[in-house]
Order: sequence, then structure tokens, then C-alpha cells
Amino acid sequence: MNWDDTTDTPASERLVGASADREDQAVEAALRPKDLGEFIGQEKVREQLDLVLRAARARGATADHVLLSGAPGLGKTTLSMIIAAEMGAPIRITSGPAIQHAGDLAAILSSLQEGEVLFLDEIHRMSRPAEEMLYMAMEDFRVDVIVGKGPGATAIPLELPPFTLVGATTRAGLLPPPLRDRFGFTAHMEFYEPRELERVVHRSAHLLDVEIEPDGAAEIAGRSRGTPRIANRLLRRVRDYAQVKADGVITRDIAAAALAVYEVDARGLDRLDRAVLDALLKLFGGGPVGLSTLAVAVGEERETVEEVAEPFLVREGLLARTPRGRVATPAAWAHLGLTPPRSASGGATGGNGQQDLFGT
Ligand SMILES: Nc1ncnc2c1ncn2[C@@H]1O[C@H](COP(=O)(O)OP(=O)(O)O)[C@@H](O)[C@H]1O
Ligand SMILES: [Mg+2]
Repeated sequence: MNWDDTTDTPASERLVGASADREDQAVEAALRPKDLGEFIGQEKVREQLDLVLRAARARGATADHVLLSGAPGLGKTTLSMIIAAEMGAPIRITSGPAIQHAGDLAAILSSLQEGEVLFLDEIHRMSRPAEEMLYMAMEDFRVDVIVGKGPGATAIPLELPPFTLVGATTRAGLLPPPLRDRFGFTAHMEFYEPRELERVVHRSAHLLDVEIEPDGAAEIAGRSRGTPRIANRLLRRVRDYAQVKADGVITRDIAAAALAVYEVDARGLDRLDRAVLDALLKLFGGGPVGLSTLAVAVGEERETVEEVAEPFLVREGLLARTPRGRVATPAAWAHLGLTPPRSASGGATGGNGQQDLFGT
């Protein structure tokens, strides 16, 4: 399962999922920072990008190709739009999976205006032939359009106007090196600090015309998994609660009570995350246990556990992926208020650990 394909998960579980659903997309457009000055956090990326764009503007040139890597919801799409805005250029938005054939890409490339920004989301999911066409387009602003089939096929070179490709990927490591090398600037987006997320929440609350106290914003920020998209989503749910159950003002207590209703705990874990930890601790004594076994125990697909729950649990230091299986850390026992059995020193139970029935 892909990060962006989690639409079959119930809404309550998706609240902290990092992918965007339809409701998100509409609100996100309204909440997107419009220029670099409004973009919160990511200091290094902002500083570097600012230099790249200023220099290009000063030269009257088109900006270098930019690769943005980072987890979903950290601001890649937002930054691509900011790049276009800062360059005063139009933007064309497409994604790797939308480009099935090299011809699809040729059609897009040949219709670009001079200086236009082409945003290619999920660039690692492009087809191989399209990828190869992109190499040449990025480097020489040229594509070869193949006309005809078989031995009679001929390549007709087509000049392209200079453009800026902005590629986004959740993992730059998934890109073939020749593609990665053709970007003049690569920005890696980090998860946000709680303090930065508080600013995101305040800014969004202001735009949504919601009154929020600093403590209320801190409460939401602390449960947002370092991710602005999640912060904005939790803010909206807390706003609903504040309207229905109180006078509309978001205080710390209101935020905490609202997020308890949505089963988002103090650390930002949701029902699925806790179910995984709960099974790992209570059924398997903290592990090691194979991924498939763990997935069966929580009644979820293996991919859901691996791609939706685990990355955050690993990042939080609650779960470790080891060659012998998944292992709970001491912090996991503490988080669920349980005491680890004496033999389970971080799950290292020698040869007597849980068997991996289904392979990891
Ligand atoms: N640095 C930031 N400052 C303020 N809001 C942000 C920031 N980064 C992301 N957001 C907000 O988070 C949401 C998701 O951002 P988006 O650019 O769509 O993420 P991505 O493309 O990486 O998945 C948007 O509503 C955006 O307004
Ligand atoms: Mg995006």
C-alpha cells in the first residue's frame, strides 16, 4: 500500500495519517503559505532555496531543478507552489503515477511555457521510459519524440523552453542516481519541532477565524507527529468540538478532551498505533515477532502495519525493526503503563523469543 492510498481506513484512524483526503485538499489550499516568508520552520531549506531563487532572478534565468524529499504532509507541494510564486512563473502540477507512457510526459513537456515550473509529485513512481525522457529534458531541454513503430521508427528531436522541474518524493533514496544527479538543488524536509507546529496551528486558526489559547495550540502541536498537515487536521477536529461542546474557544482542556474523543493520545498515537503496541507487548511479550504475525494479531494488512503505523512508532523510539522481528522498547512499555517482564530486556530473549510464524 502506498502512503496516499489509505482511503479505505476509517476516518477516525486516518486523523493522524499523513496522506491527504478530499476534505484536506480543499482546506489545505486555503491554509497554504504563499511565499517563503510565510513558510514556517525548515530554516536550512528556506535559506538555501531563497539563495537559489534570488540568484536565478538576478540573472534573469530559470531556476535550477529542485528535488524535495520528505515524509507526507511536511510541505513539499506547498514549497513547489512557493517556488513558482517567488519566480513569478506559472506552475503545472502532475505526478509520477499519472504519467504512464513517455508520450504523456512528452505532451506535458512540449506544452510548457518558458520559465514554467513543472511539479512532479511522487517522482519515484514514474515509468522507466518516462524517466529516461526526463533525463534529457532536464539536462538539454530537449526530448526525442518517437514516431512510428518497429525498424521504421524514427526519433524526432523537439526543443523545449527552459523550465524548472520540481520533483517531490517521500524517499530520495528511491530515485535512480542519474535522475537524482540532474537536480541542481536537493532539499530534505525534516519533521517539525513542536514549537514550529504551534506556529502552524496559530496561523491556521487565524485563517480559519478560530480563537485559540497558546496552551491549546501547544496541546494540538504535541500530538501532530511533527507534521503540519496533521496539525491542521487536528485543529479542525478540535474546532468542531469547541463549537459543539463549549464556546468555540480552544483551550488546553478543550483540545485534550476533543482529541481523546478522536482517540489521538498525548503523544500523537492513534488507535492503530496503540493496537500494534498493545499486541506486541501483551501477546508477544515485547517481541521479537514477525511483521505478518503482528498484523494478523491486530487484524490489519501487513502493509498497513508496516507503512502506516510503524514509521511513527520507530521514529518515536517505541518499536524497533530487527532482523529477528519487531521488538518493543522500554519506552513502549512505559507509554502503555505496563511493566516489562524481567527477561524482556528490550525484547532480547535469546533463542526463546517468539517464533516468526509467517516470516518477517
Ligand atoms: N512550513 C509550513 N508552514 C505552514 N504550513 C505548512 C508548512 N508546511 C506544510 N504546511 C501545511 O500543511 C499542509 C500539507 O502540506 P503539503 O505541502 O501538501 O505537504 P506534502 O506535499 O509534503 O505532502 C498544507 O495545508 C500546508 O499549508
Ligand atoms: Mg503533496
